[in-house]
Amino acid sequence: MIDYHELAQLAEKIALEAGRLIVSRRDEGVDVADTKTSPTDVVTRADRESERFIRDSVLAARPHDAVLGEEDGEISGTSGVTWVIDPIDGTVNYLYGIPLYAVSIAAEYDGRAVAGVVVNPVGQETWVGVRGSGAFLDGRALRVNDTQRLSDALVATGFGYLQPRRTKQAEVLRAVLPRVRDIRRAGVAAVDLCWLASGRVDACYERGLNRWDIAAGLLIAEEAGAVVGGLHGAAPSEELVIASAPALFDDLHDLLAQSGADTDAD
Ligand code: IPD
Repeated sequence: MIDYHELAQLAEKIALEAGRLIVSRRDEGVDVADTKTSPTDVVTRADRESERFIRDSVLAARPHDAVLGEEDGEISGTSGVTWVIDPIDGTVNYLYGIPLYAVSIAAEYDGRAVAGVVVNPVGQETWVGVRGSGAFLDGRALRVNDTQRLSDALVATGFGYLQPRRTKQAEVLRAVLPRVRDIRRAGVAAVDLCWLASGRVDACYERGLNRWDIAAGLLIAEEAGAVVGGLHGAAPSEELVIASAPALFDDLHDLLAQSGADTDAD
């Protein structure tokens, strides 16, 4: 029997320690270790160190679990539990010293997230979601806003690192911006989803997010009452993530579908 609360407690303990590690590395200065999908999609030495620390800590406590991380790929396991890790979400903020980045850790069982933790180590905020038991910010239960109209909605989004994707994302933004209260681009997809859970924004959407960016945040948003999905009944995925207060989902979905938010420019 898998205890989701135990998984969440372990994730929280490890994410808090990883958060302290990356903040202290930031104070010592940041080194870009490599680039990924484009020259502006960077990996710092702290990303790698944080991921190694999280992997080692998870496997020390639960040696039979699988682990998927942003930097080092997947290790298989036999328990049915997979840990999905983003050691620093918001790496560009981290690089520039913008005090908003996160450690995101989710535990999946039978292919869906059952426990998720997002830690903002500078702001000292910890979001926790446990499937079927709610979402919490520093222990306080969360509920998404009850916003009824898209024109009243504060909407978070983000952009990929490749030029054809960004060209299309700019076109989509052009369609969305006049229809909503305003847009926020925090630079941390996991935090966008936690802000939705906390009522700090009313909706989020983004194309091109990876499993490690969203596994914990989507669970936290859902457990706070958000509706999450992709286009035309699909599950949220790399194609497109839409997450919102319940009354906004259909209008935001239709606007994104009309603007081709699940495609890239040629
Ligand atoms: C990025 C952030 C950003 C989002 C990008 C992601 P990373 O993750 O979540 O908000 O817009 O699409 O790649 O690279 O900082 O882990």
